Amino acid sequence: MNAIKFFIQGIKHFKEVGTISRSSKFVSNTMTKDKYVDYKTARCIVELGAGDGPITEVLLKKMHPDAKLLCFEINDEFHEHLEAQFSHDPRITIIKDDAAKVGEYIKAAGFKEADAVLSEIPFVIIPSDEIIEQSHKYLKKGGYYVQLHYSTVARKRYERIFGNSEIDFVTLNVPPAFIHVCQKK
Ligand SMILES: C[S@@+](CC[C@H](N)C(=O)[O-])C[C@H]1O[C@@H](n2cnc3c(N)ncnc32)[C@H](O)[C@@H]1O
Repeated sequence: MNAIKFFIQGIKHFKEVGTISRSSKFVSNTMTKDKYVDYKTARCIVELGAGDGPITEVLLKKMHPDAKLLCFEINDEFHEHLEAQFSHDPRITIIKDDAAKVGEYIKAAGFKEADAVLSEIPFVIIPSDEIIEQSHKYLKKGGYYVQLHYSTVARKRYERIFGNSEIDFVTLNVPPAFIHVCQKK
């Protein structure tokens, strides 16, 4: 999707999108680091709030041929774009539903839990912790939850739910990104 179309979605649906520009390749590469997803063994990877898919694209490149990606996006335009770009890949399920139902979809895909959860949902402007709590519940022990933000305002919420958090800072993005990384203990 071009930058102007993304900008329009960002302005029209700011309460869900939380930004006016898509993630840079530097953010995509950081979110998908091998340190956070063990691509050799991961068979169920979850992405929440995929937008027009900059992180989805990198995940699909790195994922094992037998792995599955459950990709949530509620926005109509972004969902349509994801379908057009990625639905040819049998490993992806593009879900136009609330990410709070993540557990339901993990089970429907035949898994007990996810190996990794990557989220770009703007929790700074979404007060409910339901999606974060559900992600924690359905993440395997030792697995990573990787969350994109543009500040550290929400950090305490992750520390309360996961008991830990680290920040991976990416300057080369507009705005610069604070990637919160939590491990399920
Ligand atoms: C900051 S944008 C991220 C877009 C893209 N992943 C990127 O990094 O450029 C957040 C996305 O989360 C989606 N979103 C917000 N709340 C959601 C929810 N409850 N379930 C699924 N997607 C949601 C929005 O529609 C938006 O596309």
